[in-house]
Amino acid sequence: MSTPSLLILPGDGIGPEVMIEVRKVIDWFGANRGMNFDVSEDLVGGAAYDAHGTPLHDDTMAKAQEVDAVLLGAVGGPKYDDLDFSVKPERGLLRLRKEMDLFANLRPAQCFDALADFSSLKKDVVAGLDIMIVRELTSGVYFGEPRGIFEEGNERVGINTQRYTESEIDRAARAAFELARKRGNKVCSMEKANVMESGILWREVVQKVHDEDYPDVELSHMYADNGAMQLVRAPKQFDVILTDNLFGDILSDCAAMLTGSLGMLPSASLGAPMANGRPKALYEPVHGSAPDITGQGKANPIACVLSFAMALRYSFDQGDEATRLEQAVEKVLADGVRTADLLGEDGVSPVSTSEMGDAIVTALTASL
Ligand code: NAI
Ligand code: MG
Repeated sequence: MSTPSLLILPGDGIGPEVMIEVRKVIDWFGANRGMNFDVSEDLVGGAAYDAHGTPLHDDTMAKAQEVDAVLLGAVGGPKYDDLDFSVKPERGLLRLRKEMDLFANLRPAQCFDALADFSSLKKDVVAGLDIMIVRELTSGVYFGEPRGIFEEGNERVGINTQRYTESEIDRAARAAFELARKRGNKVCSMEKANVMESGILWREVVQKVHDEDYPDVELSHMYADNGAMQLVRAPKQFDVILTDNLFGDILSDCAAMLTGSLGMLPSASLGAPMANGRPKALYEPVHGSAPDITGQGKANPIACVLSFAMALRYSFDQGDEATRLEQAVEKVLADGVRTADLLGEDGVSPVSTSEMGDAIVTALTASL
């Protein structure tokens, strides 16, 4: 097979700072595991605006469509707050998601034992937690028509429409079942089929995709409100959770916070399979550009490093190497290495962004 290609878009704020640490990890896999990537780097967000007057150059967009995976840092910052909406840094990211048609947003909630004390829940409820929320990202109530604020008699009415076609549900369901096969082989689909027709269709289509093509995966259905309760009561019962855009927005934020800091959370957005069978894919940390700590060496690079681990698993079929990387992060945390965002009251002094990156690379070497 040809060398897998990776487009790196560091972006703004702490994006470039955390990406330097990911480059160390990528180089380590090249030098020690014979895994070479055809890596290219380009601009997105405010950095692209400064250079080209647009938050995503057409050439960068074209490149993103061709590579096996895109890894993005973060976009935005106060410097760009007064820009016209059409050229705001966020538009660069939105354009990538839209034109790559990334319909499945993957948000893991994984709790490293060493950080279990950070959770707002009891330690034994979250220790060892490893779940994945698959949120449909390109349809549903955020996009459905009609929408708007209209006059109706003597008052105004605000309208949004929850709308899902069978094919939109079908492809999101397939993404979830495929993922489940690479994990714990279990999918729980969440909607509100008790009160919403779109939920009835959602449930039917998910069941049909399961029965026809993924009978080996364990499937259950749950009302989304019960799902929210179960997530805080006993989150470890789940492996993959499949849900729509609106419920997924809320449930994924909720699940993520079971595990502690924003600086730890990776994500992926996947689209349709390309000619080589790999899905179009964009990997990025959940956090933003963190202008309050930019340039101070305080950023935690782990969210971005774990985003690369997701790329290894879901784009490059290197699940064992992804696990190796996650275990290296786990070891570093267990050894008490902490960036400032992971510090409790225990008087440990924090390490810098680059010291955290170096510690992860050292742990990788120790894993050989
Ligand atoms: P943020 O995620 O950038 O920061 C929120 C808080 O978490 C800050 O106190 C920050 O210092 C901290 N934080 C975030 N990531 C961290 C890390 N890796 N290590 C240590 N601490 C970390 O969200 P905020 O402040 O709402 O937005 C800042 C800028 O980022 C805005 O311009 C916003 O539009 C943009 N943004 C971009 C996103 C993206 O690129 N996907 C997502 C969210 C916000
Ligand atoms: Mg949200």
